[in-house]
Amino acid sequence: MKTESGAQPAPFGGRKQSLIEDARRERSSGGSGSAGSPGPPGPPGPPGPSRHGDGFVFEEKAGRATLTLLFGLSNDKHAGFFKTGKIFETFEAKLLHIESRPGRKSKNSTTDLEFFMKCEVHSADRDVFINSLRTVVDDVRSIPEEKVPWFPRQLKDLDRCNMVITKFDPDMDQDHPGFSDPEYRKRRAFISELASTYKQGEPLPTVDYTAEEVATWREVYLQLRRVYPSLACSQFLAGLQQLEEELGYGGERIPQLREVSAFLKERTGFQLRPVAGLLSARDFLSSLAFRVFQCTQYIRHPSAPMHSPEPDCCHELLGHVPMLADGEFAQFSQEIGLSSLGASDEDIEKLSTLYWFTVEFGLCKQNGVVKAYGAGLLSSYGELVYALSNEPQYKPFDPEETATQPYQDQTYQPVYFVSESFEDAKTKLRRFSASIKRPFALRYDPFTCSVEVLDRPGKIQKSLSHMREDLKTLHGALERFSSSWREEEKNEEMEKEEEKK
Ligand SMILES: [Fe+2]
Repeated sequence: MKTESGAQPAPFGGRKQSLIEDARRERSSGGSGSAGSPGPPGPPGPPGPSRHGDGFVFEEKAGRATLTLLFGLSNDKHAGFFKTGKIFETFEAKLLHIESRPGRKSKNSTTDLEFFMKCEVHSADRDVFINSLRTVVDDVRSIPEEKVPWFPRQLKDLDRCNMVITKFDPDMDQDHPGFSDPEYRKRRAFISELASTYKQGEPLPTVDYTAEEVATWREVYLQLRRVYPSLACSQFLAGLQQLEEELGYGGERIPQLREVSAFLKERTGFQLRPVAGLLSARDFLSSLAFRVFQCTQYIRHPSAPMHSPEPDCCHELLGHVPMLADGEFAQFSQEIGLSSLGASDEDIEKLSTLYWFTVEFGLCKQNGVVKAYGAGLLSSYGELVYALSNEPQYKPFDPEETATQPYQDQTYQPVYFVSESFEDAKTKLRRFSASIKRPFALRYDPFTCSVEVLDRPGKIQKSLSHMREDLKTLHGALERFSSSWREEEKNEEMEKEEEKK
């Protein structure tokens, strides 16, 4: 699945790292001779400078190149360090940052040193500058640049997470039931356009659904509603019941995104955002990090109410929304989203495959009976009944295996993964998500609905102090609860004593 657009903004530019981190990364990438785990993008190990010095350039603008260099100084060459000053002077180079550490080549030596340096020179001088440094210090090399894909930091950045995959839309897919129905395609395009022009913060668009569209919804709703009690998990049933009682979910009308979004926001902090079609995995997952669920508004073709090749409002409003009304599921969904921010394409592939076999097509055991919690199942009568029949193969849910399982997006899944319980799926997926390696840590700020990159000690300290305040509040609440609880116990004991008398 394609996850990144060539039109995406520039890579994440907040690269702040120490020499220690570089060393750690070099080790993991095999730069110091170790083998095994794949390293960050870029040349493996310490490369020599390219003929044009490209490997050293961190960024380049207005005729000045910022270079990141590592070099060593052995005991007999310490004078070389002072000679670098002369080279800097000659080339009018500007030193931006410097760190040192004990050299790694002679582990027993306490006098060998290694330097990390960030500096700026005239672009035209960079080759000569690097070659001049090589005459006075040892082993001049570049630091492999880590390319971190761009990711949204705040809600309004989701306006840029709109890469729609046209694979299954009726204009492109000859197998789509609406492919040969120009009226349907026109109507779908009209509703999609409402989403295409939507900007974060605007009121969610409403759609004046036609009688035929409502009839399709009704058929889907009533057919599925009959089998939900025996096939859907308890969290789904509880969410659906709330939607029916409080929002009037039923077969008579198609709920509007605006009212459903308000309902979810009140319960779990999730909100809906209109989307023009099937989103790229990266864009879809990243919106979950902000508790935003990207939601289509058009409805499937009336000729095939029981299955849709692409997401539609039946899939979103019936399959996903009841689960998003569950607090723990909402938290779990946001964690998947946070894990995806800035992740490599390889990890996005794994995360989206896991998402597919859990949030979309997951099964779990409840009281010893297999139930569905995946939205792809709970919005498709045909596949729901098939998935819970004896036909498909079941495998125990194991994120390591599931993440590499080929999935079927043309017809029913041949394999479904069954968790021991709903909680078991959440725990395992959380553990897997936490294992995804990124060169930074993230913190979601629920007050500003923004993501903060924790890449400086000051930011981490600030976050810790916020947490300390929260802990104080919780501790105070626990103290008060404990004292009243102790008081109640004491009263009960006294009452018992009185009764005995
Ligand atoms: Fe979905």
